[in-house]
Amino acid sequence: MQKVLVIGEGFLGKAIIGELQHGYYEVMSVNRTHLGHKYSEVEFLNKVYTVMLGYQPDIVINCIGHFAFSPTTEAVPPRIVFDEIFDANVKLAWRIARGFREVVNLGEEHKYLVHIGSESAFIPHSHSALYCASKAALTMLTQNLARDWQRDICVFQVDPGVIRDSGMAKFIGYELFEFLVDAKTVAKFTRSLLELGPYTSGHSYPIGTIIR
Ligand SMILES: NC(=O)c1ccc[n+]([C@@H]2O[C@H](COP(=O)([O-])OP(=O)(O)OC[C@H]3O[C@@H](n4cnc5c(N)ncnc54)[C@H](OP(=O)(O)O)[C@@H]3O)[C@@H](O)[C@H]2O)c1
Repeated sequence: MQKVLVIGEGFLGKAIIGELQHGYYEVMSVNRTHLGHKYSEVEFLNKVYTVMLGYQPDIVINCIGHFAFSPTTEAVPPRIVFDEIFDANVKLAWRIARGFREVVNLGEEHKYLVHIGSESAFIPHSHSALYCASKAALTMLTQNLARDWQRDICVFQVDPGVIRDSGMAKFIGYELFEFLVDAKTVAKFTRSLLELGPYTSGHSYPIGTIIR
C-alpha cells in the first residue's frame, strides 16, 4: 500500500484525502492550523519535516495555496500581500520539496511529489497579478525539480480552474457557475495521474473551465 502525505488540509486537500482513502493508499495529512492553533512558519515546517521523517511517504501532495487580490491600478500592494502569496505558494513549496528529497527512502519504486498549482499560472485574471505570478513560478519549480530528480522522484502539477464549491467561486459570474469544475473531480483527476506512473513527471495538467 502506498503512503500519501497531504500537506494543506483546506478545501481541495480534504477532497483529495477523501478520494485517496477509498483506494490503494494509506493517507496522512498535516495542516498549518490544527485544533485551533496556527503554527508559525518555522513551527509548521518543523512539523512537516518531522511527519515526513516518521511516516516516510511514497507520495507527497502539496495543497497549500494563498490567494489575495493585488490591484495594479491602485496604490502599490502592500509588501505583506506580496510576501504572504509568495511565501505560501513558492517558498514553502521549495522547502517542502527539499525536505521530502532529504528524508525520502529511495528504493526501486518511484516516489511522487504533486504540486497543486492553478490555471492562473498561464491565464491572467483581473487584480491577481501576484497570485498568477506565484503559480507561474511554482510551475517552473515543478519542471526543474522533475528534471533534477528524474531518476528518483516524479514531480508533476495539477492546475485546476476555479473550483465550483470552493470559496473562490463567489468571484465568478452566476452564468458561468455551473460550468466550473468541482473539487471531487479535481481529486479524481489527481488520483488518476498518480496511477499513470512516472511518465507524468515534469508536466502540468490543467483541469476545469477557462475563465477569461
Ligand atoms: N479553490 C479554487 O478555486 C482553486 C482554483 C485553482 C487552484 N487552487 C489551488 O488549490 C490549492 C488548494 O486550494 P483550496 O481551495 O483548498 O484553498 P483553501 O481551502 O484556502 O486551503 C488552503 C490551504 O493552504 C494552507 N495555507 C495557506 N497559506 C499557508 C501558509 N502560509 N503556510 C501553511 N499553510 C498555508 C491553508 O492552511 P490553514 O488551514 O492553516 O489556513 C489550507 O490548508 C491551492 O494551491 C490553491 O491555490 C484553488
